[in-house]
Amino acid sequence: MSALRVPLVAGNWKMHFDHLQATYFVQKLSWLLRDAHFNFSDAEIAIMPPFTAIRSVQVLVHSDRMHIKIGAQNVSSLSEGAFTGDVSAEMLQKLDCSYVIIGHSERRKYHPEDDANVVDKVRATLAAGMKPILCVGESFEERRQGIELDYAVGQVRDVIRDLSDKQAENMLVAYEPVWAIGKGNSATAQDAQDAAAAIRGLFARTYGERVAQKVRVLYGGSANASNAVYLMQGPDVDGFLVGGASLDPLEFSKMIRLVALVARKRRKNAQASEEESTH
Ligand code: 13P
Repeated sequence: MSALRVPLVAGNWKMHFDHLQATYFVQKLSWLLRDAHFNFSDAEIAIMPPFTAIRSVQVLVHSDRMHIKIGAQNVSSLSEGAFTGDVSAEMLQKLDCSYVIIGHSERRKYHPEDDANVVDKVRATLAAGMKPILCVGESFEERRQGIELDYAVGQVRDVIRDLSDKQAENMLVAYEPVWAIGKGNSATAQDAQDAAAAIRGLFARTYGERVAQKVRVLYGGSANASNAVYLMQGPDVDGFLVGGASLDPLEFSKMIRLVALVARKRRKNAQASEEESTH
């Protein structure tokens, strides 16, 4: 079934690259992928630059007709008003953003961001026609206690209740165990699969199997070109939210190509088992 979901490789640049560096990066990435005859229908690519670089990336992506989606790293839950420093979902949508990262652990840690305003941000993002990438994942302490799956699933449950089926379908969840972010050591493929399956199970119980099979669940936390294929061993892992490895165009392009390879293999296997069942 995972074969029907197009994987997403999303680069969360965090607070890196000004608008000049951002456009240079995107040109180089696009060139590397074209040079490798990359088939853009195998995997979706997204870049989440800092707010200051979104407009420059948007202009470049449009003028060169690149198959690269744009996302933001945060959004306000409010639509306008006297909120110094905030950026609304409508503003991001006008810049052709397709995705918004919501509830990243770094924002939960360094800013007053909790499950309550994460819910409001998800709603604002969906209302503006963009897709939220909801970040969840346990810290080392929850893992030590053996409650990591309950913790991650609980973070999703609080946010997705009361969505329509259509809204639920448009959700993406990134399972990012906090202890694996920026550490050079990822979770295991089994950890990633277990969390992705548990999160998909929650969607199935809440919205039914049809919706659950459309939701993409990403893994994040020290994912790179060397471990991408390994981390996608499980059928429920639909790509990556990438930090450090998305800052190097060569590394990021390699990772995208490997994810596309996994996607092609999954498609082939699904076709083969379908043919087998019809005979
Ligand atoms: P790293 O890939 O640098 O571990 O960061 C992951 C992350 O936080 C993506 O949102």
